[in-house]
Amino acid sequence: MSAVLAPRTGTIDVLPQSVHIGAEIRGVDLSRPLAPEQVAEIRQALLKWKVLFFRDQPLTHLQHVELARQFGEPTVGHPVFGFEPEHPAIYSISRDRKKARYQGEKLVRPWSGWHTDVTAAVNPPFASILRGVTIPPYGGDTQWTNLAAAYQALSEPLRNFVDGLRALHRFAVPQGANATTDFNVRLQRRPLLTEHPLVRVHPETGEKSLLISPTFIQRIVGLSPRESQVLLELLFEHSIRPEFTVRFKWEPGSIAFWDNRSTAHLAPEDIFATEFDRQLYRVTLGGEIPTGPDGRPSVALEGDPINSAE
Ligand SMILES: [Fe+2]
Repeated sequence: MSAVLAPRTGTIDVLPQSVHIGAEIRGVDLSRPLAPEQVAEIRQALLKWKVLFFRDQPLTHLQHVELARQFGEPTVGHPVFGFEPEHPAIYSISRDRKKARYQGEKLVRPWSGWHTDVTAAVNPPFASILRGVTIPPYGGDTQWTNLAAAYQALSEPLRNFVDGLRALHRFAVPQGANATTDFNVRLQRRPLLTEHPLVRVHPETGEKSLLISPTFIQRIVGLSPRESQVLLELLFEHSIRPEFTVRFKWEPGSIAFWDNRSTAHLAPEDIFATEFDRQLYRVTLGGEIPTGPDGRPSVALEGDPINSAE
């Protein structure tokens, strides 16, 4: 079925899902240890396509963590929100988790909710592996965008300008909403504020990409508040242009594995208009401290780096 569009050249089948981002991988069983060449080919596909999708892989928590271990070092489930009992590397993504964080209507903009995982930390995960368990019959899709393609599509003068900028990222309640007591307690226990370059050089490919995480980014350092706001809005709007994105429809047993260094993603809001349940689990892999085009690394202003789960 896949042979026409993607002839098998190695040990896996790679089926691109759009021009700039996303590929489905077939021909692997993720419940068992992968052959070294499969690990290498999946990693190459990840660097090229930024997010990989797998179908019909009903893994247990332990198998999920074992899969992740073949590509890096699993971090603690979430540095602020914790992890599943007895599974320190597993973070539950349930339909109701937002209720535990804030109440009230947040200010909705086209890019609200787009983010790169945990950029409030100085060492955001290099990758996230998300596993679908309970999936609504419709709705609840996730979208990803390729921030390297978005960077390349900026005009050269603007690329040169953003190359020299840095921005502040922190965990905060969405504008317009009120934090719950639990959210405030957790943030006070583990405040995270980091200055990152606005453009990141990929440690494996050397590719430049925008390090913009609309949910976490606060402002650009050194610009006036209005300059920062307008430039960020321009970059947010640009970076989620449809041609840079891919949309994934989950099924039970689906897995999405993305390079968190060159992408942002959008959690679905549409399920809140339904009664459908939705349960996914995530494992994140420890990442490098980002560096900008000038070689300057990110700097933690508050909080510690993300810990390993082990
Ligand atoms: Fe996320």
